[in-house]
Amino acid sequence: MYDIHCHIIPYVDDGSGSIVDSVEMSSLAAKTGIKAIIATPHSNIPGVFENYWTDLFDEKIQTLNTEFSKRGIDIKIYPGQEIFCHGDVLSKLRSGGLITLNKSRYVLLEFDFKTQEAEAYSAVKELTSFGYVPIVAHPERYAFAFENSASILKLKKYGALIQLNAQSIIGAFGRYPKLVSEYILENELADFVASDAHSQYTRTPDMSEAHEIVCGKYSYEYADVLFSENPFKVIKNIEIR
Ligand SMILES: [Fe+2]
Repeated sequence: MYDIHCHIIPYVDDGSGSIVDSVEMSSLAAKTGIKAIIATPHSNIPGVFENYWTDLFDEKIQTLNTEFSKRGIDIKIYPGQEIFCHGDVLSKLRSGGLITLNKSRYVLLEFDFKTQEAEAYSAVKELTSFGYVPIVAHPERYAFAFENSASILKLKKYGALIQLNAQSIIGAFGRYPKLVSEYILENELADFVASDAHSQYTRTPDMSEAHEIVCGKYSYEYADVLFSENPFKVIKNIEIR
């Protein structure tokens, strides 16, 4: 398995709070079958987590990789961001202040939980028209998806890919995100499951329970696509059809 959404860089957002936390998160990820992680700090949230990309972030990724290999943890970390949809995301992507997942064509995009669906459609349309492939982070947690599940199909029609949180599938975010995830899985609208891990205690990198649910209720093949094949294609910047 590969995890394309994880808050594992210490001290930059509400994820890992220290290098020890990051080591424990990666060790848990490795034990539960994850081979690589794209580090995705919150970014472009004005006044909260801005985290515009600089060489300093590449150095932080390097430090994590060195630390993990020193401790024999078989996990590779790649650069990325969870980009909050605010202001001119496109020009920040083009200037390098915001980056795609492992500097591929794939952009991990999050919205305010109460965003209007029309805003999500226009962001997706704009990015796709410039050759990016937006991956909508955890749409099952957004109000518009609870109210109108057909919005997921529309996001896909406009060129977005859909990333579910493993924790939504197991019910850790409550009833509605679980129901919306079931709708998305039943209709084969999901493209990825990721951990969106923030720590080694709660919201952890362990996706094994969600993986078992997808294998049991849907199929091993679909689980493979969501947890392994598509995430691997993102890391390698291979087209996903
Ligand atoms: Fe996240």
